[in-house]
Amino acid sequence: MNDAPTRIRVTGDAASTITVGRDLLGSVAGALGERVNQVLIVHTSTVGRLAEQLRAELQQHYSQVLLAEVPDAEAAKRVEVAAFCWQIMGQADFTRSDAVVGLGGGAVTDLAGFVAATWLRGVRLVQIPTTVLGMVDAAVGGKTGINTAEGKNLVGSFYAPQEVVCDIDLLATLPRNEILAGFAEVAKYGFIAEPEILETIERDVDTATDPASPEFRRLVELSIGVKARVVSEDFREGGLREILNYGHTLGHAIEHAERYQWRHGVAISIGMMYAAELGRMAGQLSDAAVERHRSVLGSLGLPLSYPAGRWPGLLATMQRDKKARAGMLRFIVLDDIAKPRVLAGVDESVLQFAYQEIAA
Ligand code: GLY
Repeated sequence: MNDAPTRIRVTGDAASTITVGRDLLGSVAGALGERVNQVLIVHTSTVGRLAEQLRAELQQHYSQVLLAEVPDAEAAKRVEVAAFCWQIMGQADFTRSDAVVGLGGGAVTDLAGFVAATWLRGVRLVQIPTTVLGMVDAAVGGKTGINTAEGKNLVGSFYAPQEVVCDIDLLATLPRNEILAGFAEVAKYGFIAEPEILETIERDVDTATDPASPEFRRLVELSIGVKARVVSEDFREGGLREILNYGHTLGHAIEHAERYQWRHGVAISIGMMYAAELGRMAGQLSDAAVERHRSVLGSLGLPLSYPAGRWPGLLATMQRDKKARAGMLRFIVLDDIAKPRVLAGVDESVLQFAYQEIAA
C-alpha cells in the first residue's frame, strides 16, 4: 500500500494544495511556510487535545502559537465568535505575515476562513478538517462565512486557503453516524462526476466507510479531486460550481425545517433522492439510475424519504431562498450518472409529483 501523501491542486483564483494522507500533523509547519511569525489555531473543545498537540508541534517553529476555542457546529458561525478571534489577534499584534489554522468540522473551517479573510484584508490560512464532510467539501474551495439571524452564510467571502491538510487518521475516532452522514457528500461526487465512487460503495460499503481502509482514502481523494476540478474552473460560482449543489435545494429546506438539528448529509441524502426523482420526471434520468440512488444512499443508512405533509413548508422555504438569490427556483438534476445540469423554472405541479415519490 502506498502511504505517501497525495497532493491535489486547485488552480486559478482559488489556487491551493490539498494534501491527503495519514499522520500528517507533523507536516503542518511546512504547509504554513517559513515567513510566518505567529499562528492562531481556531478549534472547538471536541478537538482540544489535538489543538494542544498541534500547538506543541508548531511552537518549535514559530514565536507564538495562540489558541481560540470556539463553540461547536453552527454556534461557531456567529459574528460574536469572529469578534472573539479578532480580539485575540488584535491583542497579539497579529500582522500580515502571521497565519490562521482552522482545526475542526465544516463550521469551524468556515469561521476560521472568514477570520483569516477579514483580518488585515487577508492573512495566510491552512485548514485541517477533522470530519469527512470537512475534508471532501467545507474546507476545500474557499467558501468562508458566518450566519446572521436572517439566515445561513449571509456574510462571508471566497477566500482560498493556501493549504488543506486532510489527515485521515483524525477520522479514526469519529462516531459512525458522523462518517455516514459525510458519505452523503462522497456519494454526491459519485452521482455528479465520478462513478468509481459509487462502484466502490456498492462493492463493500463497510470497507468503503472504514477510515482505516485504502478504499476510504481513495474515496476521499476522488471526492476532493472532483471538487478541485470544479473550483479550479469556477471559483466564484458563476456556473459550473453549481453542480456541487446536487441535492441541496430541497436538502437546505429540510435542514431549515429541522431547525439545523440534523446533520447536513442526512438532509442532503433526501435532497438527492428528490433530485433523482425530478431528473426522471422533468428530464431523462433512467429508472435504473434513480434506483441506484436509492440503493447507494440506503446502503449508507441514510434516509430516503420525508413526511408527505411537509411539502408546502419546504416549497415555501425554497421559494424564499430563491427570492434571496433574486432568481428562479433551480435544481441540479442528472441526465445520467455523471451528467449533471441545471433545471430551472419547473412547474410547481411537477415539483410536487416528484416529492410524492419520496414522501413517507
Ligand atoms: N459546498 C458547495 C461548494 O463549495 O460550492
